[in-house]
Amino acid sequence: MKVAVLGAAGGIGQALALLLKTQLPAGSKLSLYDIAPVTPGVAVDLSHIPTAVEVKGFAGQDPSAALEGADVVLISAGVARKPGMDRSDLFNINAGIVKNLMEKCAATCPKALIGIITNPVNTTVAIAAEVLKAAGVYDKNRLFGITTLDVIRSETFIAELKGLDVADVNVSVIGGHSGVTILPLLSQVEGVSFTDEEVATMTTRIQNAGTEVVEAKAGGGSATLSMGQAACRFGLSLVRGLQGEKNVVECAYVDGGSEHAEFFAQPVLLGKNGVEKVLAYGDVSEFEANARDAMLDTLKADITLGVEFVK
Ligand SMILES: NC(=O)c1ccc[n+]([C@@H]2O[C@H](COP(=O)([O-])OP(=O)(O)OC[C@H]3O[C@@H](n4cnc5c(N)ncnc54)[C@H](O)[C@@H]3O)[C@@H](O)[C@H]2O)c1
Repeated sequence: MKVAVLGAAGGIGQALALLLKTQLPAGSKLSLYDIAPVTPGVAVDLSHIPTAVEVKGFAGQDPSAALEGADVVLISAGVARKPGMDRSDLFNINAGIVKNLMEKCAATCPKALIGIITNPVNTTVAIAAEVLKAAGVYDKNRLFGITTLDVIRSETFIAELKGLDVADVNVSVIGGHSGVTILPLLSQVEGVSFTDEEVATMTTRIQNAGTEVVEAKAGGGSATLSMGQAACRFGLSLVRGLQGEKNVVECAYVDGGSEHAEFFAQPVLLGKNGVEKVLAYGDVSEFEANARDAMLDTLKADITLGVEFVK
């Protein structure tokens, strides 16, 4: 397996690269690309860690060499939030970065599974899809918005609140990846019940967890270490699916034929071609149904912004 990380010198990119170096299956290749000149040095640094994963680093304006033969591409290139910004404030810079990188992916590794981390994910995934469509290589089963951070935050916060072993807590998070579009399905968490007040408070905390980090870092960026872990979990799941492992399921923001919006985060079964099957997200509570319906105008507007940006 060859996994490429674009934006690899950044806060997320370096954390993700470290985790992949230590956790990818033996014999894998890790390819790091960033415009920052330090990137080959990041690769040399990682290469001293004794695992059977070969690391190469590429800097400069052209990611093509890093993308050649990639099975999985994880994109965290772009700017991150500062206090007072929401994810949509990043659009002006990150939209162009994602568009340019996707044009290179379309030309160099059109069959790769591509996971987008760069915010605003609700919009950058739509941009990526439009670029792939324009190049005639779009396969909806191979493009993912990575929403795993919302899942691991949900698991952590619920385990803390209820005094559970976090390893036993599984939560689906549906919708998108910003504010009200993030909807954890708390009613489905096995063996746990929440009061109405707990549901409201917990849902809001999960939706605003990114801002919790942005404010705590006080101008130093947004979530990088937890996002590195989330992207590593998702990237390894993509690899496990590609290698033929059965029953690999993750929530992701995909073009999965949802009745709600063109792109919608929900559980998907991963396999040799990316999305093997989009899974139903199951029964939801009245609170969740209302929250889902209330997010759709925002989510659809985010998607339209991306489509129009490319057109
Ligand atoms: N999906 C999520 O849940 C989630 C969570 C946290 C952050 N993010 C997003 O991830 C992105 C990266 O965050 P970060 O904290 O790592 O930021 P960062 O500023 O630390 O790193 C970004 C990196 O991208 C590089 N870069 C910029 N333009 C590039 C280009 N054209 N090609 C290649 N590399 C380029 C920069 O040189 C930098 O090294 C942000 O958009 C942030 O909002 C997403």
